[in-house]
Amino acid sequence: MSAVYLLLLLLPLISAQTYHWGACPTPKLQPSFNLQQYLGRWYEIEKLPASFARGKCIEANYSVRKDGTIRVLNAQFYKNKTRTAEGTAVVHDMREPARLGVSFSYFTPYSPYLILTTDYTSLAVVYSCIDILRLFHVDYAWILGRSRFLPYETVSYARELLMNEGIDLYRMKATDQRGCKDN
Ligand SMILES: *[C@@H]1O[C@H](CO)[C@@H](O)[C@H](O)[C@H]1NC(C)=O
Ligand SMILES: *[C@@H]1O[C@H](CO)[C@@H](O)[C@H](O)[C@H]1NC(C)=O
Repeated sequence: MSAVYLLLLLLPLISAQTYHWGACPTPKLQPSFNLQQYLGRWYEIEKLPASFARGKCIEANYSVRKDGTIRVLNAQFYKNKTRTAEGTAVVHDMREPARLGVSFSYFTPYSPYLILTTDYTSLAVVYSCIDILRLFHVDYAWILGRSRFLPYETVSYARELLMNEGIDLYRMKATDQRGCKDN
């Protein structure tokens, strides 16, 4: 009874996200993931879920800081301005190198950042899921490219991979990468 009550309290908070009944799916991760090869710039091709207020030209640059931590620099163009956010990625357990955590502030816990597959040179498929009492979960997914546009076949391959892991792509949406400033 109390769990159901808590659920009713939590639902309005997360209704803007993609939530589903049951625990998080446990997708297969990229075997022997190599973080060094993953560093550098990735462009967001598609994202789950698509929110209303969001920018275009979304990209992230992963690099190693002098102290050895992994820097994540997100950038997007929104309301006529390039906006950036800096975060940190960690590998919690070297035995599972494709299971990262990313945080954008000291005050927020690391969110899961799972690399389901990547060839390092064109495509990466990333998934994140948070269990709430194992009653339901909120999830996020990204199809990332080394270029702003990926061939249709590559995107459908990535979508199929996510769907085969039981991930609901109903609210997946393409990111606008047209007319972006390149440097
Ligand atoms: C990514 O960030 C690193 C460190 O700041 C920088 O040296 C590098 O040029 C950036 N790469 C791209 C593609 O923006
Ligand atoms: C957006 O920025 C450009 C270049 O800085 C400027 O010319 C234009 O007037 C701006 N548009 C708006 C709606 O602020």
